[in-house]
Formats: sequence, structure tokens, C-alpha cells
Amino acid sequence: MTKQSELQTIQQQILDDGVCAELAQGATQLVFADGNPEADIVFIGEAPGKNEDIQGKPFVGAAGKFLNEMLEMIGLQRSSVYITNIVKYRPPDNRDPLPEEKKAFWPYLVRQLNVIKPKLVVTLGRHSMEYFLPNAKISQIHGEPKRIQFGEQKQVLLPLFHPAAALYNGSMRQTLIDDFARIPMIVEKL
Ligand code: URA
Repeated sequence: MTKQSELQTIQQQILDDGVCAELAQGATQLVFADGNPEADIVFIGEAPGKNEDIQGKPFVGAAGKFLNEMLEMIGLQRSSVYITNIVKYRPPDNRDPLPEEKKAFWPYLVRQLNVIKPKLVVTLGRHSMEYFLPNAKISQIHGEPKRIQFGEQKQVLLPLFHPAAALYNGSMRQTLIDDFARIPMIVEKL
């Protein structure tokens, strides 16, 4: 099986298992992922927003535009990385995902990472960071690569601020851009 077909199986299983049925009911569709299953780098956001819900792809709204710009700044095409979210249905009114929603989707995210086996996982915001680094504070550890293990998989993880949070906050925006700029060097060393 190719990575692509293994990922398609996981996507179908989320539907078959009825994960977060209530969220699913209020959403247009499952927003599973975008990008390249052979990628060295996987980005994990929080949950789809309005545009993502409509288009069925993660990070296609304002935060996505900023993410694309930062990828370009470090010489990466969006099509060369893999982008997903911890929660894969849009929460109503863009509220934060609930702990039980993150918990329900966590095993599927782990399986995605088991298939892709990227060199680097980049979490965007605290919601996707907290299952990997339960006691960490993003304000203290953003931009510092960490060696972690979940299940059998050993992984280097880079926690970053969420692009939506940084978009209109000048100092956080610059911090995110500076942290982002370190990605090529971090990947090169792995
Ligand atoms: N914010 C996220 O965390 N994910 C998206 O897909 C879009 C915005």
C-alpha cells in the first residue's frame, strides 16, 4: 500500500467510526489534510474554520494565507509539506475545540504520523501541541525543537504559535516568522 492509500483508509475510518458525530452534523465535510504524504515536514493546526469547512482543505483562509507566505519565505512549496489539524470538523462558530473532541481525533492523527513518518512535526498553537507535550507552555517553548515519543514513534517536534493568533499581533507575528525561519536548519540537522 502507498502512503496515500493508507491515509485514505484512515480518512474513511473517521467517517465509518462516526468520530465526533455532533460536530460532523454541524459541519459541511471532513477536513482531513492537504499536501504531500511523502513530506519531511508535517504541520498540525487546531480545527477547520469557515473557509476550510467549505473547501474541505486545511488552512485555506486568512491563517492559511499567512502560513503559505511563511512557507514561501523559507523556500518551501505548500505542495511539498503535509498539513492537517488535530480536530477535523469545524467547531460551531469557530469556538475552540473541546478536550473530548481533541481526544477523539488524537488516535487518527497518530496514525497519520505513523504512515508519513516525517522528519519534523510542527504544531501550530497550543491545541495541537498539548497531546505531544502535555505540561508545556507555548509561550515558553515556542521555536525550540523537542525530541518526543508517542507510542512507538520517536519524533522531533517544533511547537510554534498559531498563525491566526499571530496574524494581527505585531510582536507575535514577528516571533512566529523568526521561529519559522529556523525550520530549514532544524530539518537539515535531522
Ligand atoms: N486554523 C486551523 O487551526 N486550522 C485550519 O485549518 C485553519 C485555521
